[in-house]
Amino acid sequence: MILLAMETSCDETSIAILNKNTILAHYISSQIKHHQPYGGVVPELASRKHTEIIHILIEKALKQAQLTYSDLQACAVTYGPGLEGALLIGVTVAKAIASVLQIPLIGVHHLWGHIYAHFLTDTPPQFPFVCLIVSGGHTMLVKVTGHYEAEILGQTRDDAAGEAFDKVARVLNLAYPGGPNIEKEALLGNAKAFPFPRAMKKQGYDFSFSGLKTAVMQTVIKLKKESDSLPVSDLAASFQKAVIDVLVYKTLKACEEHQISEVIIAGGVSANQALKNTLTEEGLKQKVKVVSPPLSLCTDNAAMIGAAGYFHYQKFQQTNPHLTVRPSLPLLDF
Ligand code: KG4
Ligand code: ZN
Repeated sequence: MILLAMETSCDETSIAILNKNTILAHYISSQIKHHQPYGGVVPELASRKHTEIIHILIEKALKQAQLTYSDLQACAVTYGPGLEGALLIGVTVAKAIASVLQIPLIGVHHLWGHIYAHFLTDTPPQFPFVCLIVSGGHTMLVKVTGHYEAEILGQTRDDAAGEAFDKVARVLNLAYPGGPNIEKEALLGNAKAFPFPRAMKKQGYDFSFSGLKTAVMQTVIKLKKESDSLPVSDLAASFQKAVIDVLVYKTLKACEEHQISEVIIAGGVSANQALKNTLTEEGLKQKVKVVSPPLSLCTDNAAMIGAAGYFHYQKFQQTNPHLTVRPSLPLLDF
């Protein structure tokens, strides 16, 4: 099955062409530089930038895969969760193409896309596995028992992990998106410099990161009164360690309780090397294998949407020509 896939849920416009779950062509156009002056994603700007580039990327992908429109056999697109206006661009273009070519239109849940990034390799995870989803909008621990079969073990009660990285970065005067910049600073700092809270660490599988963000803000305010220069690296390292401690503890606790020996990390924060290293090292101690996608597939991309669309179609054989965007789509509603 030759499948055209699209991702426009936030600030990346991405197009991929896959043969089943093998990538034939893949383009990701990041809008970061357009949003950076505002310190975060401006929804209207995101929609406009998607509109400007999506058709160009489709043409490029067809050329790279040495295919034409008539070779396409299905079209997969993210329809939620995400920014409404941004999602609308991908869904509208996908609907038009599927309708003209009379091919199935597969609506893909963005977070299942992140999970299915792990199925673009020759060695996909074996069911059941635990998935730690850590993105800009979500933090979840999920037990995945089969294709599109999952149980949510826990999720954040306030900020997502990526959101906490972005907000703390802003407090430390680091550019958007904060995650990669906090990670860089943390490499130079002492993670024990500030004893930031590990909220709800030993209480079930839900997460809370807003208290941690406030603790960093209050520390920064206090430090600024005492000195002109801020120990940015120490603050970044201590903050990052507090997030990682909680994520790793709960993920491995879930493995132990559910007798699962494989963990996958999904979503933009899975690009964080310190998180990957700590989870891998701690996992090893309890014989849990930890896998994260290649760096290029950690953050938003259309290849993962293509893989998720392919497995969705294999399982449900559904086409949805009347697809509409669902900005707050729950994980188990697909
Ligand atoms: O999955 P994603 O690309 O978009 C959403 O679906 O939200 O995740 C974006 C998030 C941002 O909050 C960004 O700061 C974070 O992932 N991120 C990182 C790193 N790279 C991206 N967080 C920590 N360390 C990183 N290296
Ligand atoms: Zn994402």
